[in-house]
Amino acid sequence: MAEKLLEIKNLKQHFNVGKSNMVKAVDGITFDIYKGETLGLVGESGCGKSTTGRTIIRLYNATDGQVLFNGENVHGKKSNNQLKAFNRKMQMIFQDPYASLNPRMTVADIIAEGIDIHGLAKSKTERMERVYELLETVGLNKEHANRYPHEFSGGQRQRIGIARALAVEPEFIIADEPISALDVSIQAQVVNLMKKLQREKGLTYLFIAHDLSMVKYISDRIGVMYFGKLVELTTAEELYSNPLHPYTQSLLSAIPLPDPESERTRQRKTYDPAVHQYSADDKVEMREVRPGHFVYCSEKEFAQYQKEYKS
Ligand SMILES: Nc1ncnc2c1ncn2[C@@H]1O[C@H](COP(=O)(O)OP(=O)(O)OP(=O)(O)O)[C@@H](O)[C@H]1O
Ligand SMILES: [Mg+2]
Repeated sequence: MAEKLLEIKNLKQHFNVGKSNMVKAVDGITFDIYKGETLGLVGESGCGKSTTGRTIIRLYNATDGQVLFNGENVHGKKSNNQLKAFNRKMQMIFQDPYASLNPRMTVADIIAEGIDIHGLAKSKTERMERVYELLETVGLNKEHANRYPHEFSGGQRQRIGIARALAVEPEFIIADEPISALDVSIQAQVVNLMKKLQREKGLTYLFIAHDLSMVKYISDRIGVMYFGKLVELTTAEELYSNPLHPYTQSLLSAIPLPDPESERTRQRKTYDPAVHQYSADDKVEMREVRPGHFVYCSEKEFAQYQKEYKS
């Protein structure tokens, strides 16, 4: 059994909007992330994917719940040194590689920011050597070090963002739609780079996406979110071959098929949350329908999913 790197337990992030409104962006999600895996997180716009990532990495304080990293509570009371150590272990890559890179800083300074904060280089020379090495690692080169972000293409900027994240030698990277803003032709290159880095450095990824084709390619397991809840979680292969939650089925039915003939006859399934009809005493929770295949459901639905699976 693989080792758990993160345990997310009943995590909630509720935002107060105005005087009397509350958005339950993340509303009680529970899942583990194993060492060395890529966990994909999908769901339509506004379902809470980014908020989940941001809360895990402590950009927000959690409204409720726990995040354990190597067994240690990320959100508990911490000294500044402990917080700094966490910041080093968890890094984030963002969707828009332009907005997330300071336009006034050279690539070298952008990449070395974490090295400076955490005192990872003993001298200026060592710092620059580290920057050059990181540039090579992400498929750029020395000559790029003294240039500014605007001189690069979208794909190259994302490589700079990746180098910046790697600079502090993290164990875990949250990638929030890292390829959505890139040309399709560049997307695979960045994903392949991320895969290569994962193999070489034993990294663990939380890969947030709303494009279901790319996420299948990169993820070992995939979680599906709907309105702040995780509704299904299983291996990538299993999710696509045996989706059980009606929302997952609807999401998958929206993927265009490569074969024109099947695409012409593709049936889109719409999801109607009213199909669930939960009553007050229904215990609705993540239940393991098959080993490693979790679905958010009541006991009655659980029995139904099991039957469905057998037939
Ligand atoms: N800082 C905030 N304050 C108030 N509401 C917020 C905040 N951040 C997010 N929300 C709301 O929380 C919900 C979830 O947003 P989130 O950005 O996590 O969704 P997402 O799944 O990442 O969507 P997308 O695919 O568009 O990136 C949305 O209704 C959003 O408007
Ligand atoms: Mg988002």
